[in-house]
Amino acid sequence: MKEKLDGIKLAALEMIENAETTAQLNDVRVKYLGKSGEISAIMRDMAKVPKEERPKIGMLVNEMRGVVENALEAKAQLLARIEEERKLKEEEIDVTMPAHGKKIGTLHPLTLIRRELIEIFANMGFSVDEGPEIESDIFNFQLLNIPKDHPSRDMQDTFYVNENFLLRTQTSAMQARIMQSQKPPIRVVVPGKVYRSDDDASHSPIFNQFEGLAIDRHITMGDLQGCLQTFAQKIFSKDTKVRLRPSYFPFTEPSVEVDVTCSVCHGKGCRVCKGTGWVEILGAGIVNPAVLDMCGIDSKEYSGFAFGFGIDRIAMIKYGIPNIKLLYENDMRFLKQFN
Ligand code: PHE
Repeated sequence: MKEKLDGIKLAALEMIENAETTAQLNDVRVKYLGKSGEISAIMRDMAKVPKEERPKIGMLVNEMRGVVENALEAKAQLLARIEEERKLKEEEIDVTMPAHGKKIGTLHPLTLIRRELIEIFANMGFSVDEGPEIESDIFNFQLLNIPKDHPSRDMQDTFYVNENFLLRTQTSAMQARIMQSQKPPIRVVVPGKVYRSDDDASHSPIFNQFEGLAIDRHITMGDLQGCLQTFAQKIFSKDTKVRLRPSYFPFTEPSVEVDVTCSVCHGKGCRVCKGTGWVEILGAGIVNPAVLDMCGIDSKEYSGFAFGFGIDRIAMIKYGIPNIKLLYENDMRFLKQFN
């Protein structure tokens, strides 16, 4: 019996010695100490051992069991340490490696221009307002003195939602809303998206306008000209000149179209200004008294000026962007250039 026990012990110790992983060591533990393991089997066989030998054999079995358990424990600690070290090595980080560069976004050129414009007009005492892009026919047209048969109402220009609602074609729609809800003195600018069924290198079916409205006692064309002069010099350059030409809008009387000296050639004539030295940038005028009265402001007491221009067009002139589509395609190669 003693030899049998020694044999089991030696075999167990050898397997423990040879175990290379915690998993292998666990198999050894089960093989000898598990419920149906070899040492457990011997314990069960004790019943067959003659009564007088039992204490002696029992002692031997316990002793052998203790040796195997200790060996298992020692090896388990050793393997745990080795495995821990291997894991640390695998997860080692080389702090001298160059880092993955982070790509930092840039503001869209239209956002840059809009912010600059708001700043310029805020410094002249204008507040900023916004309005709905789905607008009623009343605000977009009727209160702006645009009769039913006016060409700008043509289905080709306007995206109608239904008979009474449309995608606003101009931020001027906000003029009527502001005049109805505020009392003079009024000084407001309105940046926002507008929509027209129009599509070529300088027209996009969706684009951005910037509206201005000032109403007070004794406002004149001179105030409009001074305001636009300041704006043009701030957004383009100090030597920019402004020129007003007579024009027509139903909601302003008189109406003007406004040119600025070309910011690329400074008036000498180039490709951008088609050799004229001037580029047209906006429509404006003295608010039509009929519009003031329709919106509840007494035209005998008050007068005002209004102007509207395309933010896209300002961005194209200022940054030399040849096609308006570039502003709406979100091509990273284009956007990256505006830091
Ligand atoms: N709303 C006009 C347009 O879209 C521009 C404009 C605004 C003209 C205000 C006069 C006064 O063309």
